Amino acid sequence: MNFDSPPADPIATCEAWFSEARERCSVPNSHAMALSTVDDQGRPSCRMVLLKGFDRRGPVFYTNRQSQKGIELDGSQQASLLFFWDELERQIRINGSVEVVSDKEADDYFTTRPRGSQIGAWASDQSRPCPDRETMEASVREVESKYEGQPVPRPPHWVGYRVRPESIEFWQGGGFRMHDRLLYSAEADGTWTVCRLWP
Ligand SMILES: Cc1cc2nc3c(=O)[nH]c(=O)nc-3n(C[C@H](O)[C@H](O)[C@H](O)COP(=O)(O)O)c2cc1C
Repeated sequence: MNFDSPPADPIATCEAWFSEARERCSVPNSHAMALSTVDDQGRPSCRMVLLKGFDRRGPVFYTNRQSQKGIELDGSQQASLLFFWDELERQIRINGSVEVVSDKEADDYFTTRPRGSQIGAWASDQSRPCPDRETMEASVREVESKYEGQPVPRPPHWVGYRVRPESIEFWQGGGFRMHDRLLYSAEADGTWTVCRLWP
């Protein structure tokens, strides 16, 4: 990307950087991103999730709606996502409002998951206290026997969230900390304003 003559629209750059990360990074989870949420007191929390979809509407990840992040996303309706690729000296930050993806979109993705992961989605009471490993394994066995010989349906609490980008920032590392940064801000009419930032 030419940071002095940036494209008017950041979406194609996101796609290009995601695919370059897939091709050029040796790490297995180049599509991992840090997701920040806030609770109802404004206290932040951060954790990793995996990017499972991206288009003009924004990035999508899947999780348990009853988890800490699910509760906080439903409460604040806001999220911040951060990708970092050490080998490329790049990061992308995407901030925006969140929405739950359609049941069809979530069902379509759920059916592509390994059966063990589908069972795990039912078996795990994500983010709640768990007494010991045996309790976890017993929960998995219970779900396995419930769905033996049949497809595992998507649990209603297992959903996708899409972050509707309100801002997208690209960061490319440079020598002596003279990094290149570009901040795109979404306008109401669907266009973007872009601004170079000091590193
Ligand atoms: C690389 C990586 C990818 C992860 N991807 C996901 C994911 O896509 N969805 C998810 O629910 N948890 C994922 N996790 C686990 C979360 O980081 C987190 O521990 C879990 O979702 C509970 O978060 P919460 O208690 O803040 O809701 C991932 C963890 C790592 C290290």
